Amino acid sequence: MDCFRIEGGRRLAGRVTVDGSKNASLPLMAAALLSDGPVELEGVPDLSDTGNMVRLLEDLGLEVSRTEGGAMRFRTVDPSAIHARYDIVRTMRASICVLGPLLARRGRAIVSMPGGCAFGSRPVDLHLRGLEALGARIRLDGGDIHCEADELVGTTIFLGGPFGSTVLGTANIMSAACVAKGTTVIESAACEPEIADLARLLNSMGARITGAGGPRLVIEGVDRLGPATHRVMPDRIVAGTYAAAVAVTNGDVVIEDFPYDSLLAAVDRFSEIGVRVERQDPTEDSRRCSVRVTCERDLRPSIITTQPHPGFPTDLQAQFMTLLCLARGNSIVTEKIYPERFMHVAELSRMGANLIRQGPTVMVVGGGQLVGAPVMASDLRASAGLVMAGLAARGETIVNRVYHLDRGYVRMEETLNALGASVERVDDKELAAADTMAD
Ligand code: EPU
Repeated sequence: MDCFRIEGGRRLAGRVTVDGSKNASLPLMAAALLSDGPVELEGVPDLSDTGNMVRLLEDLGLEVSRTEGGAMRFRTVDPSAIHARYDIVRTMRASICVLGPLLARRGRAIVSMPGGCAFGSRPVDLHLRGLEALGARIRLDGGDIHCEADELVGTTIFLGGPFGSTVLGTANIMSAACVAKGTTVIESAACEPEIADLARLLNSMGARITGAGGPRLVIEGVDRLGPATHRVMPDRIVAGTYAAAVAVTNGDVVIEDFPYDSLLAAVDRFSEIGVRVERQDPTEDSRRCSVRVTCERDLRPSIITTQPHPGFPTDLQAQFMTLLCLARGNSIVTEKIYPERFMHVAELSRMGANLIRQGPTVMVVGGGQLVGAPVMASDLRASAGLVMAGLAARGETIVNRVYHLDRGYVRMEETLNALGASVERVDDKELAAADTMAD
């Protein structure tokens, strides 16, 4: 298994471009199931999660190829397949986003029920409630969700849950409602920019969705959806992660294709902490612009509470916690989306961080020096937070199981090294052998 060997203490400098968004790409790819003609997506990042989604869609009868310009092209060749199998779904929870498109286009869907993940149980009850409201009959059998409907009929659906709305649930129901009879209103829809990006694709396929990006979606059903070409939005979490990496090394980096509008909550916290994120050209499109990230000499503490968009994103919580370890003073981080998403806390503590957890809240006692250590994380963003810590730490850090990172960051070590970091990808067996030789 690969791990990262990081030599800390190097200042990041230079220029980096943000890739297309993973969390936008996955439902966009699934939406190709709805189309009568080919769908082309530009800027799908080359990640293990998008690779898994390709595998799943091929299994569901789509042909996936590359255009000359490098876009991913999806075309239905076998519309009879309806089963998203456990061996693929278990590798990627986001497989659930084929449920709505499959049901709507093929009248039936069997999707293996996704299990929990490293940071909680992550139910799909809201997805199922929404589809039932559209007229689907749903039962659970052998760990699979069986969903069928002779016809989907528009209605008003309330999609709020105990932790806010649901992003992939909104994607599923919005996608299915595009071809339902009549009008669907989704109240308390997820406002995440990835939902707005999906609505843009669906509308260019012929759907009639208004309100995307806000909490009330109105979808007038149409008979069918056709071919379209779409450019995936830049990844706001990757952009925020690289900005945090610059900050923990007190660096100076220009980030291109920075989705500024989607990151206002993070930019606000950066500014309070003493990290400047300055737009290079205010006339540029703020959904995809160039920013320069620099830091003040002393970082200040902050209070961060994760919330649904436009609040502070849970997917940047671990990276900001690392940053706050370096601030002078005490910070408070509260997780309101996934109250158990704190696997990085114990690992950061191994590197000398002073963190006190009480339920969904962590007090970060800042001002100490992080010291390199072998660490391990069991999810994508926690791993990113640990890599940030390795960049800031004195000495060598080994971050184990970087396959988590490969799910969401395209060759992260190459990106960081191009900015002056020292991150080496090594096989942990080689590392163990080298250690034995050194003994
Ligand atoms: N929830 C329910 N019932 C449901 C669905 C969700 O109670 O039916 C709860 C969840 O347990 C959670 C909250 O609602 O407490 C929000 O979950 P949501 O459904 O919005 O999450 P998701 O759609 O499964 C996406 C991202 C996650 C990101 C969350 C929140 C993708 C592929 N995944 O998940 O991204 O954390 O939204 O913003 O888009 C990541 O990229 O590292 C990642 C985990």
